[in-house]
Amino acid sequence: MPSTVVIGAQWGDEGKGKIIDILSRRSDYIVRYQGGNNAGHTVVIGDKSFILHLVPSGILHKGKKCVIGNGVVVNPAALIDEIEGLQKSGISVGSNLLVSEEAHLIFPYHWKIDELREIAKGKGKIGTTKRGIGPCYTDKVARCGIRMADLLDDKIFRSKLKENLKEKNAILKRVYGFKGYSFDKLYRKYSLYRKKIRRYITDTTLAVNKALDEGKRVLFEGAQGTLLDVDFGTYPYVTSSNSTAGGACVGTGVGPARIGKVVGVVKAYTTRVGEGPFPTEFSDRLMGIIRTKGKEFGATTGRPRRCGWFDAIIVKHSVMVNGIKEIVITKLDVLDDLRVIKICTGYKHKGKIYKTFPANIEMLFDIKPQYEEVPGWLCDTTGITNYKKLPSNAKKYLKRLSDIVDTKISMVSVGSDRKQTLKL
Ligand code: IMP
Repeated sequence: MPSTVVIGAQWGDEGKGKIIDILSRRSDYIVRYQGGNNAGHTVVIGDKSFILHLVPSGILHKGKKCVIGNGVVVNPAALIDEIEGLQKSGISVGSNLLVSEEAHLIFPYHWKIDELREIAKGKGKIGTTKRGIGPCYTDKVARCGIRMADLLDDKIFRSKLKENLKEKNAILKRVYGFKGYSFDKLYRKYSLYRKKIRRYITDTTLAVNKALDEGKRVLFEGAQGTLLDVDFGTYPYVTSSNSTAGGACVGTGVGPARIGKVVGVVKAYTTRVGEGPFPTEFSDRLMGIIRTKGKEFGATTGRPRRCGWFDAIIVKHSVMVNGIKEIVITKLDVLDDLRVIKICTGYKHKGKIYKTFPANIEMLFDIKPQYEEVPGWLCDTTGITNYKKLPSNAKKYLKRLSDIVDTKISMVSVGSDRKQTLKL
């Protein structure tokens, strides 16, 4: 089966950008299926570093088709910026980029509502990226969203924008005391965007299914991570889409039987950005060390990421809900200087030990992680290019992770460069 889904098995930022970039070389189509410009995939090629928010990272390879599927929410200003930035760096963007007619558009009222709702929530905020992702998906489900196909039809676009602004401006004024947006200004802005992006807008469902019919290799690029999935994550501290593998079907219009393999990307430890429970979070001292060494700052917002020990309970949960057949471990080198490394293998709550991920998320604020300790390897792994040459304690750590989550490891990453990738 020539299709593969790559997803993050933790709270996002697992280093999927690099792995997708490597797998893209063997793919013909690279397809985004959910999220929006809340995502940030960093790809390092030689001395150049690219941060992609919307365009699939396959764009960095010649001759690949890159698709933004119907499940993605698109801020056209961000998309245009990204396309122009890539073109300035000498990357060709033209008929190699396809944007779904059914993808929903993000408007300024979406990110304003996102921001004001977070402020209103105070301490109970989600910690969103404030890119308007949640409010745009809210409109999609409430059946009042505006899609790419609407943008292409001036009459429909005018009428839908007018209708939306009536309601959104009322909410902005009455609930949040914000003045709202002018129809004329927004209409003019989006008409300009239309001119710039119309060449990319097409029936991507047809294109991807046709590619599969022709035996082309299709790579579905997940954004965020399993624990941020709106159904299977730490709800409500999640994003507003299905970042799990199932999202690849509804976010592109490809049937489940056409999905071949699911690869989970897992950091050798754990990080998350934003609020919400994080059972294995480090204390201040280790937090500083790992955050600095792992450069753990958000690619989209620059926010410092929270860091913690590897949590096998959440990765086991990810393996199950995504149907993961192999995992890729990233950032192993970040643990190079630790004498002792901990792996969380259970949660203790009110005297009871849990070995599976609880549906009651509130409980996660309260549990005591049960750790297993393994010795560190205390040497630099960043120059190692062959798995066999890894220090024996590093191999033991990887073997233990693989055993606990009952999934084979196919690759290990020891640095951000493509060359720093060990195949098993
Ligand atoms: P939203 O997606 O902006 O609504 O944010 C909801 C939650 O998802 C927040 O905790 C964000 O920090 C988190 N989030 C969204 N996108 C990413 C990502 O690409 N990496 C990591 N966390 C993310």
